[in-house]
Order: sequence, then structure tokens, then C-alpha cells
Amino acid sequence: MSSKPKVFVTRRIPEAGLSRIRQHCDAEVWPEQMPPPYDLLKQKIATCDGLVSLLTDRIDAALMDAAPRLKVVSNYAVGFNNIDVPSATARGIAVGNTPGVLTDATADMAFCLLIAAARRVVDGHHYSQSGQWKTWEPLGHLGQDLAGRTLGVVGMGRIGYALARRCRFGWDMRVLYHDAYRNEKAEKDLDARQVDLDTLLGQADFVSVHTDLNDTTRGLFNAERFQKMKPTAVFVNTARGPIVVEKDLIAALKTGAIFSAGLDVTDPEPPDPSSELLRLPNLVVAPHIASATVGTRNAMAEICANNLLAGLSGQLLPAPVNPEVEGKRRR
Ligand code: DGY
Repeated sequence: MSSKPKVFVTRRIPEAGLSRIRQHCDAEVWPEQMPPPYDLLKQKIATCDGLVSLLTDRIDAALMDAAPRLKVVSNYAVGFNNIDVPSATARGIAVGNTPGVLTDATADMAFCLLIAAARRVVDGHHYSQSGQWKTWEPLGHLGQDLAGRTLGVVGMGRIGYALARRCRFGWDMRVLYHDAYRNEKAEKDLDARQVDLDTLLGQADFVSVHTDLNDTTRGLFNAERFQKMKPTAVFVNTARGPIVVEKDLIAALKTGAIFSAGLDVTDPEPPDPSSELLRLPNLVVAPHIASATVGTRNAMAEICANNLLAGLSGQLLPAPVNPEVEGKRRR
């Protein structure tokens, strides 16, 4: 019998983290493209000390109850809405995530969607591909200017700040933000102004979402909110799908309540293949790839391994989600 701690890893992650996990643990790695089914995951972790999970794995109280030895859940993501954190804390299980390292990659993707939706790049690509491009058209494919316009950031954390920095210094945009907390750094560095949500929606040319998914943000972008935006506005979501009421976004895009949108996240993921979301010419949908660069995913794997190994040896996680678990940790 191995003296190493037993762990289950719910998908192959980059070797930058996985090789250390294998070296220090008796690790089983789920080899499939699709996530392990919930009931199978429950069985797999029944005798495990640690778990590496993905945002596609639901880690709830019942699952944790099926794993009496579980000391740590290391999520391979910065978001952790897939984990019932209060239940983990109540059971003495440490939870870790991967903050910081995906800030630039995610801000890049938000900007990429912003400019693609503003300038109708994907629609133009389909137009070229389908042989409709016959000549240069003075009135064809008109999009929105970026330079000197107003960016509205909803959730001015690390990623919101990184996007705002790009827009401020690259495109000379004015920055408004809405957040429960004041971000003095954004105000000082970027001349950003904190405003209430209605003001932001009414004034911004680009609205980009960077909040967590929680009870206050679920369904935040609904018909009423889209109606408050400019008809020329571009909406971007790289945070979590359920922050947007998708049927309301579809209606806003179809009726011209807003100009266009770019999504890296949907609800559900993936969207149903028959969904209108995949058919609208003024909507760009990426398959949740904001952190998908080689360097970023390697860095996430390293933090993920560090969290797991620290949790297994009873140390404070380098990137803890529930530091309040200290003092009641499972040993
Ligand atoms: C995260 O980390 O939460 C992203 O959604 C995926 O990298």
C-alpha cells in the first residue's frame, strides 16, 4: 500500500502541475474529455485525501460527505462557484483556487471580444467565407469606434482593472466602474470613476462584466438592464454565464436595444446547438477560453498543485478560498 496521500484529479491538467502531483501523491487522473459523472466522482473520492476539480465538477455537501478523509479541494480555476464553500468549511476541508495568473489572459480575451463585436469581425469572416464578398461597400459592415469612447466595468477587481488599463492607455477611453467596493488604484492610475449601475449602463459604450457569480449577480443582466444601455453599446461577458439572462440578451440583440455582444461564458455551457445564441450575426461566442494560453494554463497548474500539496500536509494554502477553515482543518 502506498504511503502517499491519495488524490483524484478530475481531468488531465498541464504537466507543470500534474508531474508534481504524481510525484508526491498516489494520483488517479480522469483521462476523458468529458467530466466524470457526479456519482462516479463520489465513488472515486470515497477514500481520497485530496481532490483537484474543474469548474465543470459540482462539489457539493453530499459529495464531500462521501469522502470522509478529504482534506483539500484544489480548483483548477479562479472562479469557484462550482464548490459549496460554506459546506467545505463546515467539514474542515480547505479549498484553493488560481487567482492572479489568468488576469492578463482574461483581460485580453475580454478586449478581443469587445473589438470583435464592435467591428463585426466574425460576421465579416462568415461573409467572406460564404462567397458574399463581391466588392468594397461604403455602407457595409459598419461597426463602432473604440478610441475615446467610454468603458463601463462591472466588477473592478484584478481582471476588470487589467481590461480598463488596456482601454485607457491603448484607446484613450474614459473608464466608469460599478462595484460594491471602491478601487482607489483604478481611480488613481486610470482616472476611473465609481458610479451606480444605472449611470454606467446609460453612459458606457462598452459594458464588460467581471464579477463573481453569487446571489447578487445571478441574472444581473436582464431585459431591464439591457434597455438602459445605449443602442450602440457593446456588451461583453468573460465572467460566468448565469450573470446574464440569455433570452433577454438575445432579445436585446435582435431588437437593436444594444448593438452587439461578445461572450466567453454561457448558461449552460455549451449552449444547446439549436440555441439562437449561436445564430445571431451580432453576437460572438467563444467556448470559455479566456484563460486558454499555454503560459496561463501552466501557471494555473502550478498554483493548483501547490494548493493541493499544502492542503495535504496541513499547511495554509498559497491561494486559499476559505482561510477561515484554519483551526478546524481535517488532519
Ligand atoms: C476561471 O478560472 O474561473 C475561468 O473561468 C477559467 O479559467
